[in-house]
Amino acid sequence: MKPCQSVTVLAPAKLNLALDVVGLLPSGYHDLDMTMQAITLYERVNLHRSQNLTLQMPGSRVAVNDKNTAIKAAMAFFHYTGLLAGVDITIYKSVPVRAGMAGGSADAAAVLVGMNALYGAGLSMSELCALGAGIGADVPFALMGGTCRVQGLGDLLKPLPPCPDCWFTVVMPDYGISTPEAFAAYDRVGSSVHPDCAAQEAAIRAGDLAGLCEAAGNALEECSGAKDTAAIKAALRANGALTALMTGSGAAVFGIFAQESQARAAAEQLKKQYPQVYIARPDRGGARVLRAYRAGR
Ligand code: C5P
Repeated sequence: MKPCQSVTVLAPAKLNLALDVVGLLPSGYHDLDMTMQAITLYERVNLHRSQNLTLQMPGSRVAVNDKNTAIKAAMAFFHYTGLLAGVDITIYKSVPVRAGMAGGSADAAAVLVGMNALYGAGLSMSELCALGAGIGADVPFALMGGTCRVQGLGDLLKPLPPCPDCWFTVVMPDYGISTPEAFAAYDRVGSSVHPDCAAQEAAIRAGDLAGLCEAAGNALEECSGAKDTAAIKAALRANGALTALMTGSGAAVFGIFAQESQARAAAEQLKKQYPQVYIARPDRGGARVLRAYRAGR
């Protein structure tokens, strides 16, 4: 892509169709086996060429400082490319925070993709993924998107065929969960749930939604002790969800539905009790440029 003045990037949130912890690495990080699915709920990120590095997140309470994944991504991009330049970043957040939906990773992925376009740097997907892995475990998937088996720290991605057609109802309770605390709780408590990611991969390859749902599960769910998980799952199932589980390290919980009408009915019911309820479908991509402007904003 030719260099440009401004770009708008869309970056999808993710759900974990399965998450298993298969070991503990010497670094204290966990060796994971997961199925990740990009969904049609997006962070929208505008980037504009500038002399400085600035970040605005209108309407969001996420801190704007050097720990922000978007700032880390911009610094990593400048460091890697050696470009002496700046960028003004504005993030319109739609993905709930501390939800297990990789909103912060989506922001980082959007900045990497956006800056690559803005400066015509021509970095490949594998270069972007390597940069992203240094920012957060879910950033490589946020770049790749679609449906992937994800292993290791979150950096070993195997793209799968698109997940069978379905609807997700996603419920965010009025509390969030910190990812480091979720893994620390796992180390203390362990889990009786270890989803069969290989079986789920086979079901996805066969286009078998029932099989996908049978193999779904999250090893971080029990130990999270999150107070509303069981009630949300029961309500989703009572409305026809084929399965329901927590995503990532929580706190969001989602149901998988074969029928749109059931997903919508579940959402209507759960909206009475929970502030943030979303309906989404599988998205086949990752962070991508929506518009590029050659001149002006
Ligand atoms: O990489 P990211 O900052 O998203 O990870 C947040 C935290 O989650 C890490 O600090 C670590 O405590 C935990 N984590 C882990 N094993 C992984 C990924 C994340 O223990 N594979």
